[in-house]
Amino acid sequence: MTETQETFPPPPEFAAAANVQADEYARAREDRLGFWAEKARTLLEWETPFTETLDWSNPPFARWFADGKLNVARNCLDRHVEAGNGDRVAIHFEGEPGDIRTLTYAQLTEEVKRAANMLADLGVKKGDRVAVYLPMIPEATIAMLACARLGAAHSVVFGGFSADALRSRINDAEARVVITADGGYRRGRPSGLKPAVDEALAGGDTPVEHVVVVERTGQDVAWTEGRDKKWGELLAAASPEHEAEAFEAENPLFILYTSGTTGSPKGILHTSGGYLTQATYSMFASFDLKPETDVFWCTADVGWVTGHTYVTYGPLSAGATQVMYEGTPDTPDKGRWWSVVQKYGVTTLYTAPTAIRTCMKWGEDIPAQYDLSSLRLLGSVGEPINPEAWLWYRRVIGGDRCPIVDTWWQTETGAHMIVPMPGVVDTKPGSSQRAIPGIEVKVVDDEGAELEGGEPGLLVITEPWPAMLRGVYGDPQRFRDTYWSRFENTYFAGDGARRDEDGDIWFLGRVDDVMNVSGHRLSTAEIESSLVAHDAVAEAAVVGAADETSGQSVIAFVILRADAEAGEDIAEELRRHVGSDIGPIAKPKRVHVVDELPKTRSGKIMRRLLKDVAEHRAVGDSSTLADSSVMDIISQQVESSSADD
Ligand code: PRX
Repeated sequence: MTETQETFPPPPEFAAAANVQADEYARAREDRLGFWAEKARTLLEWETPFTETLDWSNPPFARWFADGKLNVARNCLDRHVEAGNGDRVAIHFEGEPGDIRTLTYAQLTEEVKRAANMLADLGVKKGDRVAVYLPMIPEATIAMLACARLGAAHSVVFGGFSADALRSRINDAEARVVITADGGYRRGRPSGLKPAVDEALAGGDTPVEHVVVVERTGQDVAWTEGRDKKWGELLAAASPEHEAEAFEAENPLFILYTSGTTGSPKGILHTSGGYLTQATYSMFASFDLKPETDVFWCTADVGWVTGHTYVTYGPLSAGATQVMYEGTPDTPDKGRWWSVVQKYGVTTLYTAPTAIRTCMKWGEDIPAQYDLSSLRLLGSVGEPINPEAWLWYRRVIGGDRCPIVDTWWQTETGAHMIVPMPGVVDTKPGSSQRAIPGIEVKVVDDEGAELEGGEPGLLVITEPWPAMLRGVYGDPQRFRDTYWSRFENTYFAGDGARRDEDGDIWFLGRVDDVMNVSGHRLSTAEIESSLVAHDAVAEAAVVGAADETSGQSVIAFVILRADAEAGEDIAEELRRHVGSDIGPIAKPKRVHVVDELPKTRSGKIMRRLLKDVAEHRAVGDSSTLADSSVMDIISQQVESSSADD
C-alpha cells in the first residue's frame, strides 16, 4: 500500500460547527465510564435510569447500564414522534425498478407497532428469536424493530446466503418465526427468496412454526398451509396501537452470524442499552449528524452488521433522515448511485472501498454527470481503503470539500471504534487513525507489549466498550477462546496494524484465516469444508489473494479423489457448488486442481505458500514442508492451468 504524506485538515466551517470538538478526547480519557454514562443518559430515553455504568466483575462478560430499562424500538421511533418530529422523513426508500416509498417517523412507528402486534399474535415474546431473510426493503427494518419492541432477538440472514446457510442459522438460534419475502430485485430481475426458506425448512426437523412472507415481487411461490402467512394481510389486520414494554439494558437485541478462523460461523450476540448508546453516539460523532438537515445514506445491506448499526439502529435512534436503496449500483446504468444522491440531496454517504474502486474503474465521467454538491461527509468501511481510492473518493465524489471518515470496526464491536473525528483530525488517506472518544486500543507484539515505532503488530482493545459483543450465542467457551485467550482481559481483534510516528493507526489486514472479499468476511475453513463435501474432492485449501477491486478474492486448491469422475469443467462445477452451498459471495474466483498440497511434517497446510502462488510471487520459505518439492509441482500446475484461461 502506498502511503502519501499529504494530510487533509477539516474545512474551517465544518470544524467550527462539528458535533465533536478536540476536547472530547480528553474528557473521555479523564473519566471513561462517566463519559459513556453521560452519552447513554443524554442520547437515549430510559424508562428506568441505570445506576451502575459497567459491571466488569466477571470478564470477559461485560454488563453495561445493567439495572436500567429501556425499549430500543421506542428510542428509534416513538420518542421522535412525541418530540414533534413525526413528520420528518425516516426512510426514503428507492426500489431497484424505480418504485419509491417515503416513510415518516410517524408512519414508520405505526408500521412497527402493527408488526409487533402481528408477531405477538404469532406467539413471539421476550427472549424468543426471529429469523429475518429479506431484501433491502423497509420491511427489513420494520421487522427488526418489531422484534426489538417485543424484547425478542432477531437473527438477520443476508438474502444472498443459500438455503443451507439459512438452515444452520435458523437451527443454531432456534428461531420460531422466519420473516421473508417472495423475492427482491437485483440486477434488473426479480430473484427468489421464499424458495430458499422452503428448502431450508424441508425435512421438518426445525424449530420454525411460522413463515411470514412479504410480497415484494409478486412472483408465484409455493405455499405451506398453516405455516406460511402473508405479511400484508397480517399487518392490515393488526392493531396500530402498541404500548412498548421496557426491558433490561442487557436484554438480547440480535444475533448476527459471522465467519471465524475455524468451524461454523459464530452467532455474535448483542444486547440493548450499551449497543444503542454507542450506535447513536457514533452517528453524531463520526458522521457529525445534524438530524434536521442531513440526509444519510449507508449503502450496506441489512444482512451485515453495517446495515444493522448504520441502516436500522444508529440512524433511527439519532432521528436521522436516510435513504434506503434496494439494488445494485449499475442498474439500470452505472450512474444509479449518483442519481440517488442527487435526487434525495444525500449529505452523508457511507460505503465500502470495493464499491469505490469499482466506480473508479467505471470512470469519473459517470459521477460527473450528476449534481453531488449536497454531499458534506463521506465514510468508508469494511476493509483498509487504499490511498488511491481514498483520494479519488475525496476529489471525484466529495468535490475536494468533504472530510472522509475511514471507520474501523467489526461485527463483534457493534459500532465504530477507530475513526478520525471529522471536525478535529487532519485526515490521512488510507489510515483510520484514532480510537473514537471513550475507546482504548493498542497495537501490540505477540507478547502483548505495546508497539509504537511503526512496527507491524496486532490490534487489541484494552477496555470494555458499550457496544461490545456479549458472547457467541450458545458457546461461552468459544467466546473466551476466540477473543480473550491471546492476551489477558484484552480483546484480540484478529487484525494486523501499525502506528505511525503521529500515533495514527494503519490496518494491515487479518492475521488469521479470515478473508475479506468486497468487505465481507469469509473463512477459509468454511469454504474448504464446502469443497470437501463435494464427491469429487479429497482435500482442499483456500486462500484470499489480493484483488484490485474486491480487496481479496477466494482462490482454492483442490486434490481430486482418485475415483472421481471429474470432467473437463470440474473447476467450474466446484465454483458453482460453493456458490450454491454458502452463497454467491463465497464462490472461488479460481479453483486449481493440484496433485499435492504443501504440508508441514505435522500435517498442517501452509496456506502462506499457496497465497504466494495465488498472488504470482516467488514462493517464500518452504523449509518446514514435509516434502519441499511440492511447491514446485504446484507452481507448475497452476501456471499451466492459468495459461489455459
Ligand atoms: O479486518 C477488519 C475489516 O473487517 C473486519 C470486520 O469485518 P465484519 O465483522 O464483517 O465487519 C465489517 C464492517 C464493520 C475487521 O476485522 N475492516 C472493517 N473496517 C475496516 C477494516 N479494515 C480496515 N479498515 C477499516 N475501516
